Amino acid sequence: MAEYLNRIGAGLILLDAAPLSYDWVPPKVVGRESDQEQLAGMFASIGTPGMSCRAVITGNVGSGKTVLSRSFADDLARHLSTVRFIQPVHVNCRNHPTTSQVLQRIATSLDERHPERGFSASEVIQGIRRNLRTRNQHMLLILDEVDHLLRKDGGDLLYQLLRIDEGRNEAGTLSLILVSQEQVLDQLEGAIISRFGRSNHLRLKPYTDEQLKAIASQRASLSTRTGTVSEEILTLIGQASADTGDARVAIELLEAAVMRAEKGGFQQVEPMHVQRDAASRGRAVEPSVVDELSQHEQLILLAICRRLRRDPEVTSGDAEKLYHVVCEEYELKPRGYTTFWKHLKSLETRGLMESRTATASVGRGRTQHITMPQSLPGQLEARLEHALES
Ligand SMILES: Nc1ncnc2c1ncn2[C@@H]1O[C@H](COP(=O)(O)OP(=O)(O)O)[C@@H](O)[C@H]1O
Ligand SMILES: [Mg+2]
Repeated sequence: MAEYLNRIGAGLILLDAAPLSYDWVPPKVVGRESDQEQLAGMFASIGTPGMSCRAVITGNVGSGKTVLSRSFADDLARHLSTVRFIQPVHVNCRNHPTTSQVLQRIATSLDERHPERGFSASEVIQGIRRNLRTRNQHMLLILDEVDHLLRKDGGDLLYQLLRIDEGRNEAGTLSLILVSQEQVLDQLEGAIISRFGRSNHLRLKPYTDEQLKAIASQRASLSTRTGTVSEEILTLIGQASADTGDARVAIELLEAAVMRAEKGGFQQVEPMHVQRDAASRGRAVEPSVVDELSQHEQLILLAICRRLRRDPEVTSGDAEKLYHVVCEEYELKPRGYTTFWKHLKSLETRGLMESRTATASVGRGRTQHITMPQSLPGQLEARLEHALES
C-alpha cells in the first residue's frame, strides 16, 4: 500500500523501507547453499534438450520455499540461456486452487491473450504444449502451496501434466517443482510418486538463529544507514525468531525495531526496540481464531495490524478511521460507532489486542490506546487478508 510514501520519514536510521517488507524479493537467497546444491542436483539433466526434471520442496511456513524455488528457476534460466530456453512459471495454488484456475494462470503467463474459458483441461494443456513447442521453450512450472490443489481437485492435473508428451513422439516440454508446507508426497497417488522419485524430495529445515541473523542482516544493510543496526541487534533478532525458524518473523522484528528507533529519534537501533516477547509468543494466536471472527471484526483487526506494523500503538479514533479505509478497499459499508466499539472490546476479550484508556481524552467518548503485545501484527495481517479473500 502506498509504496511511494516509503521514503517519507526516512531519516537517521532508515534509508529505504522497501527491503523491510516481506513482499520484497531479495537479490540473493542467503544461508541455503547446501539446499540449493541439492536442488541443482535434481535438475542435473535440464540442460539437455528433450529432458525433464522434477522436484518436491517441503518445509514450514517461512522456511524460504517460495523464494528458494523462484530464484532457482530464474537463476537456471539465466545460466542456461545459451543452451536451452527455460521459461519459469510460478502459480500459487492457494490463490488458484482449481484445475481450471491453475491452467488459466499457466496459459496466460505464456500468452496474455489466452481466452478466459471454453476449453476442457486437456485442450488447454495441449494448447500450452503447442505454444511452448512453437517457441522452442521449456517450461519450468512451480506449483506453490500445491496441497490446496490436491485437496480441491485431487492429483488429476498433476498426472496430466506429467504425461503431457505421451503419445506424441516428443519429450521435455516441461519440468515441475511442487512446493508445499505439508508432506504432500503422502497425499499423492502411487503413479505420481513413482514419476517424481523419493530422491527428488528437498526438505527445508526451519532456519537456525545464525541463518535468521543473516537474513535480517541482508535486509538491514539494504534499508538502513551503515552502523545503525549493529551485530548485537542482528544477533538478538536471530535468537528471538529462532524458535519459530520463520524468516518472516525475523524480518518483521527488524522492521518493527527500525521503525520504533526511527520514530523515537534514536541514532541507532537499541536492544529495547527489538520486540523479543512478541516473537516467542507470536505463535499463541492460532489461525483458527481469525476464522472465528465476524467479517467486520476481521476488518477492524486488519486495520489495526497495518498500523501496528509500524507504530507501537494506535488510538481508537485512528483505528476507526483506518477501519473505514479498509472497508473501502474491500468495498464494504463500515458499521457505525457503537458496533465498532463493541467489536473492539470483543477483540480485546479474545486476547488479540490490549488497550489502555488515555489520561486526557478529548472529543467523543473514551480514547483508548491499542497495542498488540501478544502477536506480530504482520503475521496476523497476512492471515486476515487470507481469511477476507476466501
Ligand atoms: N534464505 C533466505 N534469504 C533471503 N530471504 C529469505 C530467505 N528465506 C526466506 N526469505 C524471506 O523470508 C520471507 C518468507 O520466505 P518464503 O519464501 O515466502 O517462505 P515460505 O514460502 O516457505 O513460507 C520472504 O520475504 C523471503 O524473501
Ligand atoms: Mg510460500
